[in-house]
Amino acid sequence: MRKVFVHTFGCQMNEADSSRMIESLARKGYERTGEADDADLILLNTCAIREKSEQKLLSALGRYRPIKLARGARIGVGGCVAQQEKDKLLRKVPYLDFVFGPDQVGNLPEILDRVESENVRVAETAWLDSSTYVFPRADADFAKGKATAFVSAMKGCNNVCSFCVVPYTRGREVSRGVDDLLGEVRDLAAVGVREITLIGQNVNSYEGGVSFAELLRRTAAVDGVERVRFTTSHPHDLSDELIALFAEEPKVMPHFHLPVQSGSEPVLKRMRRDYTIAWYLDRLDKLRAARPGIAVTTDIIVGFPGETDEDFEKTLELVERVRYENAFSFIFSPRPHTAAIRHMKEWGEVPKEIATARLVRLQALLREHSTGYASACVGTVAEVLVEGPSRYDPNRRFGRTPENRVVNFDGVAKEGAIVRVRIEDASPNALSGVEVGFERSRPVAASSRLAVVG
Ligand code: SAH
Ligand code: SF4
Ligand code: F3S
Repeated sequence: MRKVFVHTFGCQMNEADSSRMIESLARKGYERTGEADDADLILLNTCAIREKSEQKLLSALGRYRPIKLARGARIGVGGCVAQQEKDKLLRKVPYLDFVFGPDQVGNLPEILDRVESENVRVAETAWLDSSTYVFPRADADFAKGKATAFVSAMKGCNNVCSFCVVPYTRGREVSRGVDDLLGEVRDLAAVGVREITLIGQNVNSYEGGVSFAELLRRTAAVDGVERVRFTTSHPHDLSDELIALFAEEPKVMPHFHLPVQSGSEPVLKRMRRDYTIAWYLDRLDKLRAARPGIAVTTDIIVGFPGETDEDFEKTLELVERVRYENAFSFIFSPRPHTAAIRHMKEWGEVPKEIATARLVRLQALLREHSTGYASACVGTVAEVLVEGPSRYDPNRRFGRTPENRVVNFDGVAKEGAIVRVRIEDASPNALSGVEVGFERSRPVAASSRLAVVG
């Protein structure tokens, strides 16, 4: 059997796409390998969100080149850099065999056929619109033994955030039809998947025939599904109906990732994020009232063009006010085609040292809050969905709490079991504990946060 090695960069959309690639190649007789050295086909599924992501691609390609020379392995590049660079990438990297955009994932077997049978170098980067795009469907056989799965609810992005390259790499939004989507959820649940995460760059702007809240409700109603999550949401589409669902539907997990980007109104305006801080905070207050204890996480950019010390202080103020459970924070990185790169001089570039100093301060504050939440878990019992062995110690188990906190624990529960774990130790990134209880088939209650051991 021939072997394929897939190197995935970037977000959950790329992770899901990589799974679809592996599944479709399996039907062509390719077996997945975890070692690039053994591969007959090397695929890089790339991300273009920040400058570093492209450098990462080029250095990875450099590492794989000797494998091509030694064994004649073919190398293909997919994902957002592929979409951005198109056939230019073939010219830049002479040993590259083919390039395919995110919309071409479903055509990968045919693309590979052409490369192999005609011995040509190929770049397939056409975008497909809602009339022609078919969402590649997960092959449930590959999900056997897994507790969790990502399911695509939509693709693309109709926003024009001035810093962001995604609209240029993933095209316009296309929502997946509700029946098609629920069919996939049912297939996954039938083989034992218990947690479904609906994914899309703007997942709560879903328009596939029912509202996003209704889609979550129907996903939760599928037999065998015990937990429902979704990512990523845009604040402007955080509807009252979605907030109300958090009070109603216990299977929708108490975690909300709501990227804010900045705490300063003038910066948000230049970023073309069309909400105010007051609106954002009001949405969060309502969400926290609907589901007390809900974990809120976010994304923040520092050093956006024109960001002053005062703007940055506003971001720190917002972080103090919200106290995020966790956050991803980045230094602004200028991207091709975006409004921010065009206006960078006019708005005022923030010097690297200043942006770095801001990031360090911001991350210290975010860490203080994450550590606070994590230490508060020590001595409590958490309901954990078991995903497999711990990455750090194969004798321990790994899973997540309803709030999406990672837990490594001593225990025997199998993948897919929902167990009670007493938390004994905490770091900002992971909790550590011991299995103390029986398997539960259903979460206890809407606010199943953490019960204190009495
Ligand atoms: N669709 C999501 C997030 C997309 S990208 C949303 O709208 O929130 C993930 C995160 O990367 C963004 O939230 C943002 O914080 C960060 N990001 C995107 N473009 C960036 C850039 N040019 N420089 C630095 N960070 C960026
Ligand atoms: Fe990028 Fe904005 Fe779309 Fe998110 S909403 S993917 S940040 S353009
Ligand atoms: Fe990166 Fe593309 Fe996702 S740019 S973040 S892989 S949509």
